[in-house]
Amino acid sequence: MKKLIDRFGRVHTYLRISITDKCNLNCIYCNPADSALRGDLSGSILSYEELSRLLKIFVADLGITKIRLTGGEPLVRKNVENFFRMLKEIKDKHPFELGLTTNGILLKDKIDLLKNSRLDRINISLDTLRKERFIAITGADNIDAVIKGINKAEEIGYNPVKINAVIMKGINDDEIHSFIEFVKDRNLNIRFIEYMPFTSNSWNEKVYISYKEIKNIVEENYSLVEIKNGKHNVAKNFRIEGHSGTVSFISSISDHFCDGCNRLRVTASGNLKLCLFSSSNSEIKLKDYLRDDKITDDEIAELISSSLQQKELKHPELDELLTMDKNNMLRIGG
Ligand code: GTP
Ligand code: 5AD
Repeated sequence: MKKLIDRFGRVHTYLRISITDKCNLNCIYCNPADSALRGDLSGSILSYEELSRLLKIFVADLGITKIRLTGGEPLVRKNVENFFRMLKEIKDKHPFELGLTTNGILLKDKIDLLKNSRLDRINISLDTLRKERFIAITGADNIDAVIKGINKAEEIGYNPVKINAVIMKGINDDEIHSFIEFVKDRNLNIRFIEYMPFTSNSWNEKVYISYKEIKNIVEENYSLVEIKNGKHNVAKNFRIEGHSGTVSFISSISDHFCDGCNRLRVTASGNLKLCLFSSSNSEIKLKDYLRDDKITDDEIAELISSSLQQKELKHPELDELLTMDKNNMLRIGG
């Protein structure tokens, strides 16, 4: 089996796949206000058969050991049950860890299916614990569904269930202590995420708050004890004496973690993306190869491993990120 090693010796074992560019929320930090930028700009999305073939190539031929499904919102894709069944079959032959990042709205009804399909890990986005504020951030009145989804995921045995909260100054930074109380006696991990700029989201310097500032706010009330971190973790993890729930910080902007990057991404329309912040022009259109009958799995594996050699050591600095075009979370999936 080939290994996915880039020019800097980084071994890539983690693949994030966006399975749809559609979402049932409209979050201020994610969604471009400009309708021309919504959704995937490069045409039709990969079918479940194409996705399964691609995933099999990644795990069987390229050493990928962890796959995370993202979106848009992955659970809104039609007949997603069928895809989970297909994944289970691949997993039986070529074991890998399967994760899902979801906004949680549809989780309560799908959790049994997901558990039975051998989904290993669930990360759920929740940026506020307040009903009115949830509406202001997401455009939808269904925080209750997300909370039920979190409860069900915990009940069925996911441990920890990771809660992703993008922290924005003046919007939800007054809830940092409430989030810690929310996870305190539970198998939950609250992850405070620095707000990242993408094309046409509502990022500006005034709403950005760094992980150090967030951590200072936490430490006004709690003592954090560092948990040893894996080399590839995007999160800095801590525990609090007497709490079962843990606390993490994801410092994408103020303290990037490119040195330990082991991640590749595939967008819903089948573009290989070497970095979360790489320009959309540099994406490799795997879909064209998957749809060419003459191209074999080995050739696709070769294309992926040779494309990886273009990966940069670091993503661009903040001022350059702010000028980048057509990069939005709906198509990249985080
Ligand atoms: P685990 O598998 O549980 O470690 O999840 P994860 O943190 O890799 O994935 P998740 O989808 O929960 O993402 C959490 C946050 O980390 C989101 O805001 C992502 O955009 C961000 N993130 C994930 N990977 C990267 C990365 O390679 N670079 C940067 N800058 N941010 C990332
Ligand atoms: N900055 C930081 N995190 C973001 N996410 C979406 N948009 C942004 C952004 N602009 C997070 C979501 C989700 C994860 C995949 O990415 O909260 O949990």
